[in-house]
Amino acid sequence: MTPAEVGYVAVVLFCKKVLATKKFSSNHLQIKTQSPSHGPPRVMSPTAVLARRGARALAAGLTQRASARVVAPFRRGLASQAADANATNQSSGLPRFAALIGTAAASAGAYAFLLDDTQSSAAQFKLFEYLAPTMRVMDPETAHNVGIELLAKGVAPMETRPDHPSLAVDAWGLRFTNPLGLAAGFDKDAKAFPALESMGFGFVEIGSVTPKPQPGNPKPRVFRLREHGAVINRYGFNSEGHGPARTRLEAYRANVRATQAEFDTTPVVDGEPVPSRLAMRGAPVGVNLGKNKLTPEAAAADDYVLGVQSMGHTADYIVVNISSPNTPGLRNLQSKAHLKGLLGKVLKSRDDLAVKLKKESGHSHKPPVLLKIAPDLTDSDIKDVVHAATSCGVDGIIVSNTTIARPDEIKAHISGGEAGGLSGKPLLDKSTAVLSRVYELTRGKIPLVGCGGVASGRDAYAKIRAGASLVQMYTAFAYGGPALVPEMKEELARCLREDGYGSVRDAIGADHRKGGR
Ligand SMILES: Cc1cc2nc3c(=O)[nH]c(=O)nc-3n(C[C@H](O)[C@H](O)[C@H](O)COP(=O)(O)O)c2cc1C
Repeated sequence: MTPAEVGYVAVVLFCKKVLATKKFSSNHLQIKTQSPSHGPPRVMSPTAVLARRGARALAAGLTQRASARVVAPFRRGLASQAADANATNQSSGLPRFAALIGTAAASAGAYAFLLDDTQSSAAQFKLFEYLAPTMRVMDPETAHNVGIELLAKGVAPMETRPDHPSLAVDAWGLRFTNPLGLAAGFDKDAKAFPALESMGFGFVEIGSVTPKPQPGNPKPRVFRLREHGAVINRYGFNSEGHGPARTRLEAYRANVRATQAEFDTTPVVDGEPVPSRLAMRGAPVGVNLGKNKLTPEAAAADDYVLGVQSMGHTADYIVVNISSPNTPGLRNLQSKAHLKGLLGKVLKSRDDLAVKLKKESGHSHKPPVLLKIAPDLTDSDIKDVVHAATSCGVDGIIVSNTTIARPDEIKAHISGGEAGGLSGKPLLDKSTAVLSRVYELTRGKIPLVGCGGVASGRDAYAKIRAGASLVQMYTAFAYGGPALVPEMKEELARCLREDGYGSVRDAIGADHRKGGR
């Protein structure tokens, strides 16, 4: 065994033990443990539970399994090699290395055990900050898939520090504890969104999801332009289809409801409310709908209607995505000729769904419908889109998707000529300009979601001042990892404070008001 293999086995044993002891699946909500005196159940945060279990698992794992699986065979190996005169020299460093790894892991476990929730959260984000660069050794699609699988297993930092009250936003009757969301395309098949919520996003959008499963475009289909903080992708709506995403969302909703019911009966510790966002309902989850490649343009509306019918009951909001550049003809649906007809059908199916759900369950659920547009529209296109959207009664607009434009510095990059949509920093100004124009035209009557090139709290603040009620990002998160989330929220709260705003609400559209206030 090489030193690297010994280290790997130690880490895998540790992780397996932790993941097995805690049901660290997506909905790691609060867990009750029995107090030592067998008195009333004591409510501990999952982080504390995880830390304690981790420390115990570590102790057990190191003494038993590690000894049985790692050290014993290793010793046997050493013994058999002892006959070889060279063996001692070759291997003498290894037990010491294994002991070093074990000691380091035990110290980390003991350290985690001693931390309170806030410190533990900060430490977890720090750890992921160090791990993020390891993703760079893989090609971008593999790295993304590995990330999704880890997140789906709950391997993610958990935010237990409450969001600053100034960051809260209310829109469409939903409460967002902060305005920073994860944009569509990251969790296309709704596998990872609970872990993404738990790391502190104010909301997560799953999809784009298509009615039938489809593989998307041939690989390679995503390219890093790291020096520019940008990505070009031409995934082409690779999707498992509505069915699997719906099943995962339904399971999540059932879990949240069950946990919420539990909280409704035990929401306090020592007479105090539980001071954790985990005690709240999960953050809003949007469902972004796409169309199958083989669905003809004339029947495109049917795919979105199917999406509403199949997934609307599980969605906090629905997005009609007609702006991805990687499905032939899709962006034509933004034209005057198509848009009103399409939106009319989608909104009608949403209204029908609301009536049906009320009849069946007695509960009202009428998810708002948002339109996601491209940043490449001309001013006259923007006017047409806004007119069609507002006259049909669309509830919000997401500005924007990726761009097909290639600024000069991108053209010069080795991957700059790849076909697809460009996202990240080069998109920031362009998408903010379109957002600003849409805000002017809608006069702040419907909430807007600013998306494109957001990589810092200050960028998010710029979108809010331009007219966004909520903000999304994708590319910066793919590069920066989870640590970016708390960092951006902190910076956004600072921007608001410095300009004298008590809340995000007060700053929305500030650039359009006299004196920028
Ligand atoms: C790899 C990748 C895949 C994407 N897939 C989708 C998608 O399926 N549906 C969608 O509406 N937007 C998709 N987007 C667009 C993002 O949601 C977002 O609108 C765009 O990337 C701009 O934000 P950013 O600059 O923060 O990345 C994708 C973006 C990237 C980089």
